[in-house]
Amino acid sequence: MLLSIILLSCMFHTITASTPQVNAIEFNNFGFAGSYTPVIELANIYDEQQCSCSISNTPTLFNGTNAPLNEEVSVHFRGPLQLINFASYVSDGYTFGEDNSGNFSRLSFYDAGEGIGENVTFLTRAGKNSSCLGFGLTFADSDGISAANEPTILADNTLLNSNQEFVIFSNVSCESSGVDNDCGVYREDIPAYHGFFGTTKMFLFKFTMPNETKSAWDVANYNMPAIWLLNAQIPRTAQYSNDVNCSCWRSGCGEFDIFEVMNVTEYTHLYSTLHDYQGTGDIESGLASNGHTERDLQGDMVGGVVFDSTGKVVVWMSNSTSFDEVVAAKDLNSWIHDVAQGKELAATTLPTVSAPTETSSHTTKKNNGYVLQQSPLIVLLSALLWFI
Ligand SMILES: *[C@@H]1O[C@H](CO)[C@@H](O)[C@H](O)[C@H]1NC(C)=O
Ligand SMILES: *[C@@H]1O[C@H](CO)[C@@H](O)[C@H](O)[C@H]1NC(C)=O
Ligand SMILES: *[C@@H]1O[C@H](CO)[C@@H](O)[C@H](O)[C@H]1NC(C)=O
Ligand SMILES: *[C@@H]1O[C@H](CO)[C@@H](O)[C@H](O)[C@H]1NC(C)=O
Ligand SMILES: *[C@@H]1O[C@H](CO)[C@@H](O)[C@H](O)[C@H]1NC(C)=O
Ligand SMILES: *[C@@H]1O[C@H](CO)[C@@H](O)[C@H](O)[C@H]1NC(C)=O
Ligand SMILES: *[C@@H]1O[C@H](CO)[C@@H](O)[C@H](O)[C@H]1NC(C)=O
Ligand SMILES: *[C@@H]1O[C@H](CO)[C@@H](O)[C@H](O)[C@H]1NC(C)=O
Ligand SMILES: *[C@@H]1O[C@H](CO)[C@@H](O)[C@H](O)[C@H]1NC(C)=O
Repeated sequence: MLLSIILLSCMFHTITASTPQVNAIEFNNFGFAGSYTPVIELANIYDEQQCSCSISNTPTLFNGTNAPLNEEVSVHFRGPLQLINFASYVSDGYTFGEDNSGNFSRLSFYDAGEGIGENVTFLTRAGKNSSCLGFGLTFADSDGISAANEPTILADNTLLNSNQEFVIFSNVSCESSGVDNDCGVYREDIPAYHGFFGTTKMFLFKFTMPNETKSAWDVANYNMPAIWLLNAQIPRTAQYSNDVNCSCWRSGCGEFDIFEVMNVTEYTHLYSTLHDYQGTGDIESGLASNGHTERDLQGDMVGGVVFDSTGKVVVWMSNSTSFDEVVAAKDLNSWIHDVAQGKELAATTLPTVSAPTETSSHTTKKNNGYVLQQSPLIVLLSALLWFI
């Protein structure tokens, strides 16, 4: 009896335990020396029996500050969410919180209210279904989720419901698909664009994540909005595939979740998570922040993520954030400082990894698809099972 009370209270504790609520989340020592295996072939993609993907025998080596997220990334959005503003920036040298040097220049900008889309391409998975690759990317229509024939700016007040997604790339087209070409191998029936480059880069967002009222409760990812970055190679081959060799995700080319609801229990908590092999062999779980920002169910949220030149990655939520063409380091530091004083910043220091990791073992595990796709029920069940 006593034992079962202890077990029950442990269980209850595990399920309800939460991390501190903060306004800024910091990862230190971000970036490591490692490798991943790029996709080199997508074969017979519309033949259910023959459809197959191959990865290279020669891993792509990466190293240094923010690696592998120093490679080009695409920016992903999942509902319930309405995007009001988006901007991407680069800097030739910015150190978080330090000397106020290193301004950021804006390379891309979206303003829903004004109907402005500069150097952004909205894509969505409304293309043909392939048994091994899933649905192909198309241009998104103004509703964010239907297919369009040409690049289209989302309409003002476009609301994604649970499990609906769109993605933003730059407007720079890829050369043809090919191992040695600028975008590597990609699915040939998609509009293929470059992601956002840079070791030192920043993304700003103004958005809402209203409580779900439209979708049925049993839809996947019910009421679990998210904004996240992927190595831009991933969505150009296959974002949600059951075959680990259909994208470079499993071998660790990189994902960084900026604002993500992890489960319906904590539906007002936004976590940040790194998914690669820096300090973990478990890419599905990755390394999550030990604090969360708050999902405001009513108001607009404004914030961003910055990758600095010394391996500090900071996610913040601050109404001071503005989307100017040049963001001075001094202003960025103050936006974050103003909301993150005292204990309102959760910091995690990643372990140093200086030798490329062995990747072959990573690819043998079954890929259940993306972590962001994982059913919260499975997470809950494994938490329960652990205690039985
Ligand atoms: C580090 O990465 C760069 C590409 O970013 C590559 O050219 C170089 O060979 C790598 N160095 C090592 C030691 O892996
Ligand atoms: C890409 O965006 C920039 C900035 O808005 C614009 O000047 C350029 O014409 C666009 N290029 C294409 C190919 O659409
Ligand atoms: C897409 O293809 C997969 C694999 O063949 C299949 O399981 C799934 O049901 C298809 N989805 C739809 C909506 O047709
Ligand atoms: C558009 O964005 C891409 C990726 O950040 C960049 O390479 C390109 O220079 C940008 N184009 C303009 C016109 O700024
Ligand atoms: C948000 O929606 C959930 C159902 O997904 C509901 O249980 C909850 O009460 C709602 N919260 C608020 C504050 O309305
Ligand atoms: C993925 O590729 C590796 C290396 O080529 C191979 O050993 C493995 O069997 C492949 N996995 C699947 C599921 O095809
Ligand atoms: C930020 O502004 C929104 C309105 O745009 C408001 O709802 C919210 O409470 C503000 N957040 C903070 C922390 O002041
Ligand atoms: C950075 O921006 C500030 C304010 O816009 C400006 O005064 C300063 O000269 C800029 N610094 C550099 C190095 O561009
Ligand atoms: C919800 O996600 C948080 C953050 O990952 C975790 O701490 C908590 O245990 C999860 N709750 C459930 C019920 O899975």
